Amino acid sequence: MTDRFSLLPRTVYGQMVAIVISSMLVTIFVVAFLVVALRPTVPPLPEGPWPNALAIETAIDALRASPTATRDAVARGMSAPDMQIQTTGPFPCARIPTEHFSVLLRRILKAQPDNRDAIITESTCAADSSGMTSTHIDMPREGIFITAHNGINHHLPQLMRTTLPLIVSFLSLLVIMGTLSLWSLWRINRPLKVLANKADTFGHDITPEPLTEQGPLELRRVARAFNRMQARIAAATEERTRMLMAIGHDLRTPLTRLSMRIEMGGPDAAPAALRNDLWLMNRMLNGALSFLKGQGDTEPAERVDIGALVESVCAEFEAIGRNVTYQGDLGLTCLCQPVAVARMVNNLIDNACKFGSHVRVDTRRHDNEAIIEVADNGPGIPSEMHDIVLLPFARLDPARSADGGLGLGLSIIHDIVQRHRGTLTFHHNQPSGLRVRIALPLDPHGTRGRPPEPHAVH
Ligand SMILES: Nc1ncnc2c1ncn2[C@@H]1O[C@H](COP(=O)(O)OP(=O)(O)OP(=O)(O)O)[C@@H](O)[C@H]1O
Ligand SMILES: [Mg+2]
Repeated sequence: MTDRFSLLPRTVYGQMVAIVISSMLVTIFVVAFLVVALRPTVPPLPEGPWPNALAIETAIDALRASPTATRDAVARGMSAPDMQIQTTGPFPCARIPTEHFSVLLRRILKAQPDNRDAIITESTCAADSSGMTSTHIDMPREGIFITAHNGINHHLPQLMRTTLPLIVSFLSLLVIMGTLSLWSLWRINRPLKVLANKADTFGHDITPEPLTEQGPLELRRVARAFNRMQARIAAATEERTRMLMAIGHDLRTPLTRLSMRIEMGGPDAAPAALRNDLWLMNRMLNGALSFLKGQGDTEPAERVDIGALVESVCAEFEAIGRNVTYQGDLGLTCLCQPVAVARMVNNLIDNACKFGSHVRVDTRRHDNEAIIEVADNGPGIPSEMHDIVLLPFARLDPARSADGGLGLGLSIIHDIVQRHRGTLTFHHNQPSGLRVRIALPLDPHGTRGRPPEPHAVH
């Protein structure tokens, strides 16, 4: 994200939290709107004491039925904040004219058979400190004085009783949803944060320490891909470092020899000797450069008769007097990079000729693979060295490398085999010597889409 001013938070976590909170607010507004829009259209109760008419009637009946001694207690017991009942004297009242309240209440009370003959005076009084008017019902003959607050506020508890559970449930739902959403966002965000930190530190510290694969499936996949990439980069960096160290190490010998020859003069400083050291150094550098170049080779793949290709390489060795025999299937076609495969076979036969005197080369089909085998009668490679000789600049012992070999041939072969998704294995040749077996898939693209398998090297 750019540094432009934006109302959205900058972090993924912040943005997700903002989305959750705003969707909750929208939900609240929509629900509130629907509650208001869909509320029942019953007209509100009018102000006045008549909603209390039943309570007033009941109080009058109860006082009438009570013995004189208990009437005070009954009156006190039936009094409530919105309706006071007493048996003596009228309540203080500043009368105000509100005819309709009184008429309605009188009609209700007079409808009672017991009240038909009673003297009932009712009056509406001005608002008290709470801002509410009240209605007085005086029945002096019966000793009943009732004051009932007007208005509908006495319905509030009732109202709350029905709406409170709804409000509390809705708020609890919001709190639970909010907590769960924030928790799941945190859970998703945490591996992302770890990944970002890892990627950042990996830039400085190339030692790969794998990420823990946790969290949702997609994030676990990202972590796995990151771990693989990290391992590949670390391996490539390590290989290049090893290669540079090997070049540095190998160049030191001819360089020291060269400077000693120049220092000492005489026959040691003869141009031929100096030229020989320079040639050796040149060869080492060229070998290293061509190895590095080969690793990024982008030669297009072609369908090639593998038997014919291997046979032509063998023929070149035979032409310079090497004892190389070839035997192979005809018409075995394989989708491969022909120049790279020819280079691979060339390096194999070169090694076999260098370390042995008789070389036998075979090609054949096995399942969906083309098998190329190069066998010689040389000293072979001990099995514990099979992995090591594949590394760049690895040579078994100084005596064997007297020929000036750089130790790059097998690394190049291994690289080409891997590029073709093939396998390379070393075997003991009977009665003596080394047999190198290479299996190349006839159609390496048939495996495309799947991650490359680790290449078996024995
Ligand atoms: N056919 C073989 N028989 C015995 N040892 C072998 C054979 N092929 C390779 N090796 C051993 O493996 C080492 C690595 O071989 P590789 O081809 O990588 O290097 P090189 O032949 O020494 O040099 P370069 O190929 O760079 O000229 C060799 O130095 C040798 O010790
Ligand atoms: Mg070689």
